[in-house]
Amino acid sequence: MTGPATLFSGSPTTNGMPPPLTIIIFGASGDLTHRKLLPALFDQAVDGLLHPETRIVGVARSPKTHGEFREEILTSVQTFSRYSGKLDLFPEFEKRIFYHAMTFEDPNGYNALRTTLLSEDFRNPTKGNVLYYLATPPSYFVPIIRNLGAYGLSAINESETPGEKGFTRIIVEKPFGHDLASAQDLNREVLQVFRENQVFRIDHYLGKETVQNIVVFRLSNPVFGSLWSNVHVKSVHITVHEAVGVEGRGAYFEEAGILRDMVQNHLFQLMTLTAMEPPVAFEAQAIRDEKVKVLRSLRPIRTEDIPRILVRGQYTVGEVAGVPVPGYRNEPKIPPTSDTPTFARIKVEVQNWRWAGVPFYLTAGKRMSRRETSIRIVFKEFPFALFRLAGCPGTVPNELVIRIQPNEGISLRFGIKRPGGQLVIDPVEMDFSYQTAYHDKAPDAYERLLHDAIAGDSTLFARNDEVERSWTFIAPLLGDISRLSPLRFYTAGTDGPEEQDRINDPDTA
Ligand code: BG6
Repeated sequence: MTGPATLFSGSPTTNGMPPPLTIIIFGASGDLTHRKLLPALFDQAVDGLLHPETRIVGVARSPKTHGEFREEILTSVQTFSRYSGKLDLFPEFEKRIFYHAMTFEDPNGYNALRTTLLSEDFRNPTKGNVLYYLATPPSYFVPIIRNLGAYGLSAINESETPGEKGFTRIIVEKPFGHDLASAQDLNREVLQVFRENQVFRIDHYLGKETVQNIVVFRLSNPVFGSLWSNVHVKSVHITVHEAVGVEGRGAYFEEAGILRDMVQNHLFQLMTLTAMEPPVAFEAQAIRDEKVKVLRSLRPIRTEDIPRILVRGQYTVGEVAGVPVPGYRNEPKIPPTSDTPTFARIKVEVQNWRWAGVPFYLTAGKRMSRRETSIRIVFKEFPFALFRLAGCPGTVPNELVIRIQPNEGISLRFGIKRPGGQLVIDPVEMDFSYQTAYHDKAPDAYERLLHDAIAGDSTLFARNDEVERSWTFIAPLLGDISRLSPLRFYTAGTDGPEEQDRINDPDTA
């Protein structure tokens, strides 16, 4: 390649250059917009994966000029972009950023938005394509959706340009509902205004490279794919440990707790991708059908099971990586008697032909000793203990660990004979590391998800029935269950409450 790189000049995806469009972000002052969405769009632009005619409109309450908003975005890009070293490309990017001040209940605001979208400057270059992004607190989702419907913004192209249809899509951030009833309500509201194929329910874990690789790894490697069942697998351990606490989101977390914040969505996504049957085709409908079947196969939780299958924990004052941190009950906006769990381990059973008898342990915790998300598959040992009978101290079960983050990679543990005259079997590891194999920093999950929504591919987004099934399954754990599963305290900076090991059945763990 010769000459300096320019913005939008990179190579298009294998699917070709995505279409031009207007992206309207509700919640433009929020953390998500600044930390994730705009840096992701800039990175895509640098990679040549954003159409040069794309327009981005930030919508929020506070009055601000386009220029002021662009300045804020420059700071976000400087801080959070993969390409913070390529700020010379920002002036070209910022020309496509606009700001629109309105409250989310204000009819005039929606009318003005409509005028903007229908103006020549927007409609012609973007072919009338529009993608809304709900990046607001969840209480605004319904008012915004209703207003998009009421002011003709949900099918703006179809009504205004007959015969020359663009697309209108909407991305809904998590949390998608607070429980089954509210998720159903939200689905009903959104599907009154949009069709299912216009709706993209985000779970950013699906945008992570290593999460997408779960399916590719299983289904492209016969060596592993053929062992992927109760014939050879003894137990599956899906773990999301975070070093961070509630990060100034005390009021939200106190309502949500770890079961709603992490388990119902991110951990269930990891579980369904690990457990699902091979889809009939590698496309959205088929893959999502298989994920829903896993959720349908989960053994429902009965009240009497709760003490046996769930451990709930909450962190107390401690130290993470040498830094003193407060206990959960001392965090801002948390009542001193809070019963909200910041840690949970659940044992679930996938009752189908492939997985019957294999426990899946799902663990999520905040303020753990370190950040670590992994899927550990423990394999069965041979039924005949040849080496033990020959006096060997013990054999080593094979273990496959998919490291989702950080230090992304895959390792396989196996036993070998220790060199020397005695018969001793030592555990050793084969290790694959993304960092060693691919030196580039992987795109952020939001880059991939925005790209797919723009391209109209909903494979990596949750479908309405998937969301409702996951709420149905977890519902028995969301009420007041403090008597059935008392809160266990753990010191911040440790690996959770001691009691978590109690639910590992010694015969099957
Ligand atoms: C979010 C949760 O969905 O995921 C946060 O609301 C959590 O509480 C975050 O910290 C974890 O995401 P990641 O990508 O850092 O693992």
